[in-house]
Amino acid sequence: MAREPEAPLSIFSLAGRSAIVTGAGRGIGRAIALLFAHAGAHVLVADLDASNAQSVATEIAKAGGAAESFAANVSQEADVAAMIQAGAALTGQLDIIVNNAGIFPKYDFTELTVQAWEDIQAINLRGVLPRGGLHHRPVAGRRRSVRGELV
Ligand SMILES: NC(=O)c1ccc[n+]([C@@H]2O[C@H](COP(=O)([O-])OP(=O)(O)OC[C@H]3O[C@@H](n4cnc5c(N)ncnc54)[C@H](O)[C@@H]3O)[C@@H](O)[C@H]2O)c1
Repeated sequence: MAREPEAPLSIFSLAGRSAIVTGAGRGIGRAIALLFAHAGAHVLVADLDASNAQSVATEIAKAGGAAESFAANVSQEADVAAMIQAGAALTGQLDIIVNNAGIFPKYDFTELTVQAWEDIQAINLRGVLPRGGLHHRPVAGRRRSVRGELV
């Protein structure tokens, strides 16, 4: 029997939750942002590319969801701190952070510079969390009885 396309979301409600999705201006992050908004979350569409982030937030709003865009570089502590504040301001508390932003440049091993290696680690490994996510308590202000999620 054919399954209703919306059936999986009936058990996946994020109504009343706030969520930051990094790297949400395109690709996997965009898909996560759309899905979370469809499930009822208020989403902060965060990306280095402000224009793409705005486009996705607009796309969500046009579909009846709740979203704001935010330009942030996840390897910059000040950006992360501001992003987390903006995420918490959506509903008064921050419930979910999806740490999706990442880069995967393809280098011949002999061409990989120390700076390129540092950049990859700053974004893919140290992005969001040590750069301010935990310092700034992403779940600050949340109700004690509700679990937060960091993906
Ligand atoms: N696509 C794949 O097959 C695949 C496989 C394994 C892992 N991943 C990981 O999944 C994540 C998303 O993949 P994708 O294919 O959608 O990537 P993508 O390159 O299509 O999109 C990445 C997004 O992250 C943003 N971004 C890059 N650096 C940023 C930074 N410093 N701060 C904020 N935003 C930044 C980009 O602007 C872009 O919008 C990445 O972390 C990637 O490493 C992807």
